[in-house]
Order: sequence, then C-alpha cells, then structure tokens
Amino acid sequence: MKALILVGGFGTRLRPLTLSVPKPLVDFANKPMILHQIEALKAIGVTEVVLAINYQPEVMLNFLKDFEKKLDIRITCSQETEPLGTAGPLALARDKLIDNSGEPFFVLNSDVISEYPLKEMIEFHKSHGGEASIMVTKVDEPSKYGVVVMDGTTGKVEKFVEKPKIFVGNKINAGIYLLNPSVLDRIELKPTSIEKEVFPKIAAEKKLYAMVLPGFWMDIGQPKDYITGLRLYLDSLRKKSSSKLVRGSHIIGNVLVDESAVIGEGCLIGPDVAIGPGCEIEPGVRLSNCTVMRGVRIKKHACISSSIIGWHSTVGRWARIENMTILGEDVHIADEVYSNGGVVLPHKEIKSSILKPEIVM
Ligand code: GDD
Ligand code: MG
Repeated sequence: MKALILVGGFGTRLRPLTLSVPKPLVDFANKPMILHQIEALKAIGVTEVVLAINYQPEVMLNFLKDFEKKLDIRITCSQETEPLGTAGPLALARDKLIDNSGEPFFVLNSDVISEYPLKEMIEFHKSHGGEASIMVTKVDEPSKYGVVVMDGTTGKVEKFVEKPKIFVGNKINAGIYLLNPSVLDRIELKPTSIEKEVFPKIAAEKKLYAMVLPGFWMDIGQPKDYITGLRLYLDSLRKKSSSKLVRGSHIIGNVLVDESAVIGEGCLIGPDVAIGPGCEIEPGVRLSNCTVMRGVRIKKHACISSSIIGWHSTVGRWARIENMTILGEDVHIADEVYSNGGVVLPHKEIKSSILKPEIVM
C-alpha cells in the first residue's frame, strides 16, 4: 500500500520554529511531526510514502534517509515547481501512487496529530464501496476547517464545505483520506484544492464517505494548538503505553523525557511537558504545559509554562517564561528575564523582559 503526505506550505503560523526547519520536521513530543505519521503508516503495512513538497526537498530527504533504513520503508519526493494546492500534488505524483494492484492509497495533511486509526479506516473503506473515505472529528470552532455533513448511520457525505462562513455543522475534515485510484482521474495537473474542488463533487455523486475518528485529534500548525495537542497526545500515550512516560515525586501528570536529558534536584515537572534529547534541566526548575526541544539548557530556578523552547536555546536563572512564549532555535534568555508571550526569532540574545505578547526580531 502507498501513501502521500502533503508537505507543502511555508508553516508561517509556526514561526519562528519553521525558520529553522520545514514544518513537518518541527519536533512534537520529541520527534519530528512527520515521523509520527510515517511510523503509523508503516505499522499498517504501507511500503512507500511519497512526500508532496514545494520547497527545500533536500532538507527533508536528507533528514528522512536515516529513517528510511531504520523503519524499512521507501520515502520518495514529488516536487512541485509551483504550489499545486492540496489536490494538484496528487496528479503530479500519479505514477508513484498507482500500481497494478488497484489498491486505494492514503493521503495525509502533514500537520495533524492523532492516534491514526488507519486499520479501522481500511475496514471502513472496504465496507461502504464508495470512491473515497475521509476521517472527521468534532470541534468547537468548525469555521477554520472543512465541514462535513454526513448520514450518521452510513457515513455517506451529503455536503463538504471548506471554511464555511455560516454554521453548517461541527464535524470537520481531519486531513486523513483513503482514496481509490479513480479519484486521480478527477484531478488535473494544476493548482487545485481537494477540499473545494474535488470532495464536493464526489459527495454530490454520493461516493464520498466519512468515518468519525476515534480518539483525539489536533491540527498542530499553530502554537496554541501545538501546546493543546501535546496535552492530548500525552494523555493518549498514558492510556496506550504508559511506560513511555516518566514517574517520580518530582513529576506531575503526563511528562515525556528523552533518556539522554538530565534533570537536577528539586525540580517540579508537569503536567504535559516534553523534554528532548540532551537537555539539561538544572536544580529547582519548574516546567508545565511546555515543550523543551533537543539540546536546551534551563538554568537554576527558572519557571516555564505554556511555551515552546526551540532547539539549543538557554533560559537563565530565575527567568520566567509563560503565556505562549515561543523561542526559536539557539535563543539565549538572560538571568531573571520575564517573557509574557514573546515570540523570539532564532539566534537572539534577550537581556530585558518582554512584558506583553510581541515578536522579537
Ligand atoms: N505539496 C503541497 N503543495 N502541499 C500543500 C500545499 C501545496 O501547494 N498547500 C498546502 N499544502 C499542505 C500543507 O502543508 C498541509 O499539510 C495540508 O496541505 C493542508 O494545508 P493547511 O494549510 O494546513 O490547511 P488548513 O489547516 O487550513 O486546512 C486543511 O486542514 C484541515 C485540518 O487540519 C483542510 O484540509 C481542512 O479541510 C481541514 O479541516
Ligand atoms: Mg493545517
């Protein structure tokens, strides 16, 4: 079986992290977002993943070469010369996706995180006999997604409306599809939106089916959702393989710590924290609702909440970092500095406090 991951887009909403790497390579729960997806695809028997990409393919492929071997899966690239939207890339990769088997293939948005119930999706796809299956999930704010109106029993989609201005329903497109090869005959090689131009037509012909995704789901393409997504992910990890989470008197709730990270005496960590490889958390540090990426050093008695600390940054003694502060790669926060929602570009040194949410260039 094959799969295509839509990797295009510049990831502007996840800056400054995406100034250092393409969005799919930004770490989430101690591994690049895209690896969560590739591992899930491999687990259900996918043998080749095509990355539909429109910039920096070298960065991506160099990085994934290691994993190609480790995971024993083929990873190839289909590069656009102009952004082809969410459907055009499928036409471009047509030859890679179709083989003699006539099997359906998966298509994934690269910025969604879930338990990837792909096996269940294959069963669902076989059972309805339509042309395409999509996963849907319920959200409180459907207007920023593709909204799906469906028959609750059969799953047959009656309507698909991308980013509706008025309320249509609260079940939304989760960005995980299983498509028959015939769907490719509906897409021309030009910039095309699968949500606006392809799904509404298949739905009108009554050949589009939706399955309500079991478990959690989040589009982690924005900082606030990324932090919420980590909470949901860790909660699901606790239920499925709790041994991956750390325990101890200094831990509150769900905390993921890479085994090469060092945590000093008297720290209080959690809930909902991920600490990456090679991090050094000095004594007396307090961390909650945050991600600390590879190679970060947090000095004594610093306190961090609801924030993301980018690769190889340092946070000074007694510093206080909170309220969606995002530090890019290699940022250095001086001792006793306070950051209230600062968004700091890579390679900066911050010596005075950031009192209100702002971008520091
Ligand atoms: N190759 C390629 N080329 N990929 C692209 C392009 C392009 O021109 N444009 C966007 N993508 C990729 C993005 O990288 C992402 O993985 C996916 O297509 C969806 O694009 P987003 O920009 O993240 O769209 P969205 O989040 O506003 O909405 C989409 O996702 C929602 C779920 O998170 C839609 O599919 C909605 O219907 C859906 O509800
Ligand atoms: Mg998105």
